[in-house]
Amino acid sequence: MDTLRGAFTLLSLLFLATSTVHAVNYKGPSHVDEGEPWSIECTNVQPKDEIIWTRNNESLEPEILKDDLSIVTKTRALKSSSISAQEARPDHAGRYKCTNNSEEAFPLFVISGNMFRVLSNESVPLTLKCGEATSKDVVRWFKEKHDLLAANASEEFKKLQEFITVDTTTGTLVIKNETNEVLGNYSCTLNGVSQEFKVVPKPTAVLPHSTTVIEGEKLHVVCNGKQSPGVKIIWTFGGKNYTKSSDRVKLSIDKDRGINGAVLTVENINMSDRGDIYCRVSYNWTDRIPIHRAEAKILLRVKDKLAALWPFLGICAEVFVLCAIILIYEKKRNKAELEESDTDQSPDTKPTPNKDSDVRQRK
Ligand SMILES: *[C@@H]1O[C@H](CO)[C@@H](O)[C@H](O)[C@H]1NC(C)=O
Ligand SMILES: *[C@@H]1O[C@H](CO)[C@@H](O)[C@H](O)[C@H]1NC(C)=O
Ligand SMILES: *[C@@H]1O[C@H](CO)[C@@H](O)[C@H](O)[C@H]1NC(C)=O
Ligand SMILES: *[C@@H]1O[C@H](CO)[C@@H](O)[C@H](O)[C@H]1NC(C)=O
Ligand SMILES: *[C@@H]1O[C@H](CO)[C@@H](O)[C@H](O)[C@H]1NC(C)=O
Ligand SMILES: *[C@@H]1O[C@H](CO)[C@@H](O)[C@H](O)[C@H]1NC(C)=O
Ligand SMILES: *[C@@H]1O[C@H](CO)[C@@H](O)[C@H](O)[C@H]1NC(C)=O
Ligand SMILES: *[C@@H]1O[C@H](CO)[C@@H](O)[C@H](O)[C@H]1NC(C)=O
Ligand SMILES: *[C@@H]1O[C@H](CO)[C@@H](O)[C@H](O)[C@H]1NC(C)=O
Repeated sequence: MDTLRGAFTLLSLLFLATSTVHAVNYKGPSHVDEGEPWSIECTNVQPKDEIIWTRNNESLEPEILKDDLSIVTKTRALKSSSISAQEARPDHAGRYKCTNNSEEAFPLFVISGNMFRVLSNESVPLTLKCGEATSKDVVRWFKEKHDLLAANASEEFKKLQEFITVDTTTGTLVIKNETNEVLGNYSCTLNGVSQEFKVVPKPTAVLPHSTTVIEGEKLHVVCNGKQSPGVKIIWTFGGKNYTKSSDRVKLSIDKDRGINGAVLTVENINMSDRGDIYCRVSYNWTDRIPIHRAEAKILLRVKDKLAALWPFLGICAEVFVLCAIILIYEKKRNKAELEESDTDQSPDTKPTPNKDSDVRQRK
């Protein structure tokens, strides 16, 4: 039996080895917000290839041992493996490979709070500094991968140069005007090290004025507004602040806009949940500049579970009262009729004897 199985695996190995070259596939989100969980799965790894995860060609063994990263590997006809972390850190960014016998790699970007530069009329001009550049250093600036100083820069970037200047003596980039054109992703390189920036508009928060939830049902609110992925949202519900899900309060991603924590749901709403709910947004909460923050408020009203039943019960009560009135009236009328017929009978009966007597008298 064992020899048979051995022969079979050998055959399948041979088959795989001689069949077409397999490309390793990677799956997972390429951009994650700092603090959010992430996971990369590699599939289609040939059995002869050992699964060794690396980032930028460096071993991840120390981080795996420290429990910062975890790996799950499955072996079937082809191998697959997943690497994941509970909380993304800026140093998690890089090119991941699950085997060194393949060219493919998966680039992971971690969007961190300190990449953001908030543009508002009060922060213009905005100066981006590339590391600790000195006048001797050559700093290159890019926007969405386009070299801003290249002589052959596209028309679009020539237009951009109206609003942006690069100070070659200090290596800094200065954004002079608050226009939509200057928003986006910038990067600079200094001595082979690159740094990323995201220039975003001042965030805003928008909530409807109020919402009504029936007791026992679920609350669902979305914090809308001008927000870019990576913005940090703090919700206040029932006097408590939430940045993460906890018990019946769940914060989740707004998939349409890619904003983590923009959706608040609370199960099993009860009467004591009535009150104001806040959503507060900022790219960096340790940054104390108030103009870089925004908040919105919604009033939660809770409706009695029986509320829908009250009109029906009211109608029932009305019908009952009407029936009672009719009944009482009918009873009274019957009684009155009876009495009436009693008094009616006497005059009817009396004349007869009278007539009789009359007749008698006539006789
Ligand atoms: C990783 O190694 C490959 C080839 O071995 C090389 O082409 C690539 O530049 C290296 N990547 C990094 C980030 O060092
Ligand atoms: C791939 O990893 C194996 C095992 O660690 C090592 O022996 C081999 O030299 C590595 N190959 C390359 C191209 O880095
Ligand atoms: C937040 O802003 C402060 C003050 O501007 C800065 O020192 C810090 O590095 C920023 N932190 C993050 C995570 O962006
Ligand atoms: C910035 O814009 C706000 C309204 O958007 C305005 O109230 C404020 O005066 C402006 N500040 C400056 C310095 O222009
Ligand atoms: C600009 O020139 C560089 C090299 O000089 C070239 O790599 C790049 O593709 C050119 N870009 C455009 C938009 O022509
Ligand atoms: C940009 O802002 C400067 C002042 O900072 C102003 O002089 C210039 O006209 C503005 N340019 C545009 C195109 O709005
Ligand atoms: C900036 O980069 C993000 C990914 O980090 C991407 O989703 C977005 O479209 C980029 N912005 C622009 C203006 O290209
Ligand atoms: C919640 O956050 C707000 C705004 O940052 C703050 O004023 C308030 O004290 C916080 N409440 C609690 C209970 O931490
Ligand atoms: C409403 O729910 C909260 C949280 O589950 C609980 O603490 C509170 O006692 C409940 N109030 C009522 C009236 O049931």
